[in-house]
Amino acid sequence: MTENKNIVSSKDEWQPKIVAFFCNWCTYTAADSAGVSRIKYSPNIRVIRVMCSGRVDPQFILDAFAKGADGVLIGGCHPGDCHYQEGNYKCLRRFRLLKRIINSFGIEDERLRLEWISASEADKVRITVNDMVSKVKALGPLSLPKRFLVWNQEIKLHPITTTMEEK
Ligand code: FES
Repeated sequence: MTENKNIVSSKDEWQPKIVAFFCNWCTYTAADSAGVSRIKYSPNIRVIRVMCSGRVDPQFILDAFAKGADGVLIGGCHPGDCHYQEGNYKCLRRFRLLKRIINSFGIEDERLRLEWISASEADKVRITVNDMVSKVKALGPLSLPKRFLVWNQEIKLHPITTTMEEK
């Protein structure tokens, strides 16, 4: 009887959804080679291939969270190895800025992660993905679409009555 309960609870366990933006030249290739080498990692990530981590517009990340992602992972070439010279440096600058913004909305640090993973580091994909999934799992669901409903209610209750022109 207890055994059956355990089976049911493990099946019903909440699973985080992680959206991953992987650079075509390094992290995507590493993830591909992890698959070919049968290196198993958590199935919670949905990979989107981009040509460079510098192509990851902050809007992509915000959209992913807004549409229900519990975490976003960006994978790019190591500093100095970007195929477009400095795309990964651009990515790093945006990442740091975006992290401060999402923190101010109460989104925890662990939900947004940037990793440099070269094409030959298939095992690093496994380590990174598994680590991120376990950290986000510990945080619980982000449920941003539901939070939007609450925030909308708050805005209705406390409408902004003055505008810049009125001042
Ligand atoms: S080409 Fe990989 S990060 Fe720019």
